[in-house]
Amino acid sequence: MSQKEISLNKLRDKIISNKRLIEMFPDATNLVFGEGNPDSKVLFIGEAPGKNEDLQGRPFVGASGKILDQSLENINLSRSDVYITNIVKYRPEDNRDPSDYEKEQFLPYLLAQILIIKPKLLVTLGRHSMSCFIKNGTINSVHGKIVNINFNIFGFDFLTKSSQKVFNLLPLFHPAATIYNRNLKNVWQEDFNKILNYI
Ligand code: URA
Repeated sequence: MSQKEISLNKLRDKIISNKRLIEMFPDATNLVFGEGNPDSKVLFIGEAPGKNEDLQGRPFVGASGKILDQSLENINLSRSDVYITNIVKYRPEDNRDPSDYEKEQFLPYLLAQILIIKPKLLVTLGRHSMSCFIKNGTINSVHGKIVNINFNIFGFDFLTKSSQKVFNLLPLFHPAATIYNRNLKNVWQEDFNKILNYI
């Protein structure tokens, strides 16, 4: 097992042992930690697991996952080339949006996950994961534009030990948005193609 896999497993165990988090999501069946290639240059960050993800313990295995898989295929990548996770790692009941408080509780774990994988590019999927990194901006104004994020903005002590603090971020619409708004389909793939500059 690689050092990254060992560190990711330890992080997963840490989340599972946080009983306070489990209590916040009484309907959740499984933790959806994330999966893929820990050496990936690209790390996708979605919002929160839905029903299928909760049952399988895997991110993006439902309708949104199909769109993500297709878009990856369009740029000659597969899921095994990339790493996929969510900001909130337990399913909010009835598929409601995750609250700001819930996102805050998971943020240190997400940042730790990023620091282990150290991808060249972070890709947020949807406004909920975008807003963890970009405070002033709407998904409509920032999608498809690369921004540099300095992790010092988060002010967590554990970040001071990290050798890398600045990451490239590409905010994208959530893939589900292309189901509800067909006009977004081309915009979505055009934005998605920018990933190619980082692999
Ligand atoms: N939508 C998300 O944001 N994440 C998933 O894992 C599935 C659907």
